[in-house]
Amino acid sequence: MISKESIDDVRNRLDIVDVVSDFVTLKRAGQNFRALSPFTNEKTPSFYVVPSKGIFKDFSSGKGGDAFTFVMEHESMSYVDAIRYLAKKYGVDLQEDISPLSQEIQSDRESLYILMNFAREYFADLLFHHEDGKSIGLSYFHERGFTDRTIHQFELGFALNEWDGLSKAALEKGYSEEMLEKAGLIVKKENGKSYDRFRGRVIFPVYNLTGKVIAFGARILTKEKDQPKYINSPETEIYHKSQVLYGMFQGKNAIRREDFCYLVEGYTDVISLHQAGVDNVVASSGTALTEEQIKLIRRFTENITMLFDGDAAGIKAALRGVDMILKGGLNVRVVLLPDGEDPDSYSKKLGSTAFKEHLKSNTKDFISFKAELLSRDASNDPIKKAEAIREIVTSISLIPDAIKRSVYIRESADLMNISESVLVTELNKIVISERKKAEQEKTRTDPKPEPGMLEEIAEVSTADPIRVIQMQERETIRLLLNYAETHHEDQRLLDFILSELEDVTFSSDIYRSLYNSFREGADRGEVVDAYYFMEHGSTEVKQAVAELITPRYEISKHWGEKFHIYFPHEKEVIHEVAYTNILRFKFRLIQKLIQDNLRGMKGVTDEIDLDRFFTIHEQLKGAEKELSSILGIVIPR
Ligand code: UTP
Ligand code: MN
Repeated sequence: MISKESIDDVRNRLDIVDVVSDFVTLKRAGQNFRALSPFTNEKTPSFYVVPSKGIFKDFSSGKGGDAFTFVMEHESMSYVDAIRYLAKKYGVDLQEDISPLSQEIQSDRESLYILMNFAREYFADLLFHHEDGKSIGLSYFHERGFTDRTIHQFELGFALNEWDGLSKAALEKGYSEEMLEKAGLIVKKENGKSYDRFRGRVIFPVYNLTGKVIAFGARILTKEKDQPKYINSPETEIYHKSQVLYGMFQGKNAIRREDFCYLVEGYTDVISLHQAGVDNVVASSGTALTEEQIKLIRRFTENITMLFDGDAAGIKAALRGVDMILKGGLNVRVVLLPDGEDPDSYSKKLGSTAFKEHLKSNTKDFISFKAELLSRDASNDPIKKAEAIREIVTSISLIPDAIKRSVYIRESADLMNISESVLVTELNKIVISERKKAEQEKTRTDPKPEPGMLEEIAEVSTADPIRVIQMQERETIRLLLNYAETHHEDQRLLDFILSELEDVTFSSDIYRSLYNSFREGADRGEVVDAYYFMEHGSTEVKQAVAELITPRYEISKHWGEKFHIYFPHEKEVIHEVAYTNILRFKFRLIQKLIQDNLRGMKGVTDEIDLDRFFTIHEQLKGAEKELSSILGIVIPR
């Protein structure tokens, strides 16, 4: 029988998105992923993966469950075979349940875990029972305000200031020198001699998700200038730094429960936050976040709140890391701590209650935070301001969701006191150039373009065309027919619309065919305009085009002259008109999605499914509300 521990090991290491992606092409849909059902022959995607819950649900076949279930269903495998398959995929050595005695002669990995656990016990024992441990290590922790309970919870320890304290104890126990080296506990010199890596320092064990010790961080206690503050375990067979977050094991349940996670820099920050009653926290251990670490967080929540040290250098460094998270599609919030304070020092200074209050009332959305910060920096310097704008827009451009992007643009425009259209133009430039880059990359590797969220929206609207959406389609075509070549800043209106609606499929046959002609024309580098359609179009097309190029604003002009009021011609404000049209178009698509989601919700009895519908509903309503406030539309309740 495969041991329960190994199965947990597999479960903890796997990522359901990753597992399913081996068989199904998933598209992001908000926080979740969506695809055509691999179990039926459906036309509209109703297969979902919910990474934060580790589950999939297929509405067309009714199948659902975790990653194991998916592999069993999809590959027609037994439970045991599915475990073996996933264990292989994630490099887990499956252990059979056997007597504890023979455990020590199991695989390399397993024996590394056992040795690391031995070392942890050894260090912890010294901290509490050795004279030096007590007088140097323990008193240091106490001085820093760590309680014994905290020290036990994090299994902190102490390494004697000896060259072979740990090795001697380990060798006596029967562990080999080779194992000690593989575990990174000793350092081997060129002359073949070796010595303990951690000496005269306090010890912070680092755990994997199942709570096994995989590494140590060791902090210096003296003020020696030529010594690093921390010495850490090197990469080993069981420790891959880029995939580990300190505190994840102790924090994962709280992170799932709170549905967000605080991100700090150091070991001591994580520990102090726990002591202050904040358990949903992990540390990047002083380096920039990696993609794998972000994926790890995403298995528990989509929301990260970063705690920034107050000094300027700290902020700048942290800002860079944030872009990575935005790109991963996660939501970032920040709390700025006062100058010179870190989470450890500040939590101690304020005490648990006031500190928690501070976190709550000082959490800010990241983009707004950045915009505020930059505009403060650059208020009177045009060059700096231009730089700041580019920087904030670059961050916004990383967000995969187009609706979120437009909401942030609006907010930043307010905060930086600059016109929204300037930001939009800047954003489009970046998005287009990034997209071009990505396309070039893709044509080399994969000829099929990757459809985004908007296409899914469009798919829904195709299934059940709705009049308001088609009016929006009509307006888009009208703008294209009349103003496609008009420039705003450096961008043609045509390119702006094409890039904004890249993933949208029009629901009306005639407008879709007109729109495709514009798109194909742009691809070929040819000008497509009313004359083009008059020459090439069917009777139906010609009729529609004729109607749409007939000006409708003459009346107001007359009226304006009569009363000596200046009415700008549409052409003069075309950029605003086009931008509003795009937003409105998206607004209508969202409303359609809300209706469809509500319709889908009827008749669902499973709690997880209902939960999913509600999550989607919340997200869509949020997007609807934000778009409506930009557009000044009142949503009827
Ligand atoms: P900090 O210097 O902020 O350390 O580095 P800290 O953990 O807050 O420690 P105190 O509060 O000053 O005692 C943050 C993290 O960067 C990594 C460690 O993971 C540390 O927790 N780091 C720092 C190293 O790995 N090596 C170093 O020399 C310094
Ligand atoms: Mn620190």
